[in-house]
Amino acid sequence: MTTPRTPAEIGGMGHSVKRKEDPRFLRGQGQYVDDIVLPDMLYLDIVRSPYAHAKITNIDTSKALAIPGVAAVITGKDLAAYNLHWMPTLMSDTQMVLPVDKVMYQAQEVAAVLATERYIAADGADAVEIDYDPLPVVVDPKKALLPNAPVLRTDKPDKKDNHIWHWEWGDRAATDQAFNDAEVTVKQDIYIPRIHVSSIETCGCVAHFDKVRGKLTVWMTTQAPHAIRTVFALVAGHVGLAEHKIQIIAPDIGGGFGGKVPVYPGYVIAVAASVLTGKPVKWIEDRMENIQADSFARDYHMTAELAGKKDGELTALRIKTIADHGYTDAAANPSKFPAGLFHICTGSYDLKAAHVEVDGVYTNKPPGGIAYRCSFRVTEAVHAIERMADLMAHEIGMDAAEFRMKNFIKPEQFPYKSALGWEYDSGDYAAALRKAMENIGYAELKKEQAEKRKRGELMGIGISSFTEIVGAGPSKHFDILGLKMFDSAEIRIHPTGKAIARFGTKSQGQGHETTYAQIVAEELGIPVDDIAVEEGDTDTAPYGLGTYASRSTPTAGAAGAMAARKIKDKAKKIAAYLLEAHEDDLEWEPGKFFVKGSPDRAKTIQDIALAAYTNHPQGMEAGLEAVSYYDPPNLTYPFGSYICVVDIDKGTGEVKVRRFMAVDDCGNIINPMIVEGQIHGGLTMGLGPALYEEIQYDDSGNILQGSFMNYLLPTAIETPNWETDKTCTPSPHHPLGAKGVGESATVGAPAAIVNAVVDALWHLGVRHIDIPITPPKVWKLLRENGVTE
Ligand code: CDP
Repeated sequence: MTTPRTPAEIGGMGHSVKRKEDPRFLRGQGQYVDDIVLPDMLYLDIVRSPYAHAKITNIDTSKALAIPGVAAVITGKDLAAYNLHWMPTLMSDTQMVLPVDKVMYQAQEVAAVLATERYIAADGADAVEIDYDPLPVVVDPKKALLPNAPVLRTDKPDKKDNHIWHWEWGDRAATDQAFNDAEVTVKQDIYIPRIHVSSIETCGCVAHFDKVRGKLTVWMTTQAPHAIRTVFALVAGHVGLAEHKIQIIAPDIGGGFGGKVPVYPGYVIAVAASVLTGKPVKWIEDRMENIQADSFARDYHMTAELAGKKDGELTALRIKTIADHGYTDAAANPSKFPAGLFHICTGSYDLKAAHVEVDGVYTNKPPGGIAYRCSFRVTEAVHAIERMADLMAHEIGMDAAEFRMKNFIKPEQFPYKSALGWEYDSGDYAAALRKAMENIGYAELKKEQAEKRKRGELMGIGISSFTEIVGAGPSKHFDILGLKMFDSAEIRIHPTGKAIARFGTKSQGQGHETTYAQIVAEELGIPVDDIAVEEGDTDTAPYGLGTYASRSTPTAGAAGAMAARKIKDKAKKIAAYLLEAHEDDLEWEPGKFFVKGSPDRAKTIQDIALAAYTNHPQGMEAGLEAVSYYDPPNLTYPFGSYICVVDIDKGTGEVKVRRFMAVDDCGNIINPMIVEGQIHGGLTMGLGPALYEEIQYDDSGNILQGSFMNYLLPTAIETPNWETDKTCTPSPHHPLGAKGVGESATVGAPAAIVNAVVDALWHLGVRHIDIPITPPKVWKLLRENGVTE
């Protein structure tokens, strides 16, 4: 959709409406969890383990309790009395809230201190004395699978090893056959390291159990408030928490990116503490706790193979993966997909056969596997296929763009069934790549590179032509802990024609208050300024599964359109009554119904809204409102082609991203400015892991990047000038033709950067570099090849 259907005053789809939420954010008037202060509130601080694996032999709380202002110290034994010391994870594994017996990773929660002030709670935490007996530590998932590895999950009596699950997908025999028949194959070990969501706001909550009303209210940094309410009711029903007496409120959130989907122990401890004391309890992680204990992603050890013909035609893909989950499988994936949507790994290419295997493994690390700005392992899948495609193109001496063009799924093949079973809704991959090549001047860059190579300069050009899969449901395939993945919207039009629209999702900075209002404006012609959007309060919003995996537009956005259409149907009946015309004789233009051929005989949506409460036809219910629970018939498949140009400093090994052209396609766009912002932020979040970010552990399980001193995030200085453009291939099944976009850039960017670096070094014999591509890694390669200055 190129030209908006509505005028600027209405501000429907396609208008770059300024974000309605920004006036409060820009003035520092947002309300985050830490802004909630209640009378008599206690503060909670957590004592954490210095060991990655150790038996707890004693916990002495006496010195802590002696500090004036310390109200209580909670240990695993205290929670065990209520059977709350363990909790289920989203993947139906179990996770300690507080340990009774042993700790499983460095920085694990061991005890919690409640005090009248935050700093007193911190002093109390320092004063808790804990004795540990260190146990052997396993940090390498490959070693964890060896027969002599210590078994970590001793809490599971039948568990005799550290293997969590094996999952495989695709046709193994057909894939093996294709590899046997292949004229050319390439194989590569690719490691995507553990990285950490570094949202500006850390995790935290204020839990308030009102003993008189028997009601628990939790203000909480959560991306999925309704699911959390249900889980709390199911897990803590036995201590009196019933779902109608639980209110979860996700206020403003300073970035989620998947890290605020799981339930972390701190939330549960705070709730338990409030239930026990009857006082409000605030728990807010500090930055170091956040980076050391939660929100970890990736950690995939992949071995990928690609088969094809000498002329460049691809035939088959095979990937084996070891997934390091830390000590429990707390990944935030749909239940039936232990490796998420990793099997989108055939990407944008028309492959005849594919087979993937993933093995989940326990190690002495905090739980990992959250979908960090990624629709459940899609980043890993895209990285694998885009690296492998590049490797194959280089191997057979074919231009990487030409190679991709040859193998792309063609527009006429959609809807396209992939070798791994997904039905891609729509796409035109060649158009996006062509546009990226034209915009960046691909042919000239190739010439420049050839000349520079002659002079010994290291310049590389890398492409990533990714396909994503976002918008879970459909509910027949996707659930989280049994809760089906649909989403919802409820719209009420007030008598004066103003509206409130509530959704089952929860924005964490994506601008839903604006874009959802634009969807309603598009459908009903009510100006964006006249529509209030609310999310995140389980007492008022309709039930939904929340915001992650770029699912909001494909699910709740669609629900908004469907609810608005129900309202429009009723509005038409009211208009017919008011105009004394037959419904079939009415036509709609944004904001009003008019009688065909007589545009002056019209009733605006505002006239109709007033009539719905003051002058509605007899026999019709008064009011103008509707709700929709939208179960998408399919996922949406946004895509893009990115081209990256790098220069490598031969003296230091430093990689400089000189140009980066991102052409994205998310179907019809609701707000071009917001989409642009999503892509810019997403690209920088792709640059970080490509060049800087990694969480490592030493052999004793000590975290090596436990603060922002050594966990390097790109700042404005490192961030290049992103060049962006769009193509538009609407989703055929989404009511607005839109696809999700929030994660595309983070998913697609790293492979383009790595491909550019390897392209710059290919002639030296370099075939692959694992991310992050740090200067020491590159410098070592240059030195090995006698290239350093
Ligand atoms: O679930 P999440 O909000 O993170 O992801 P999304 O659905 O991809 O949307 C991110 C932001 O981009 C939202 O404000 C959307 O309304 C907006 N968007 C858009 O304007 N047009 C699209 N086709 C897709 C998203």
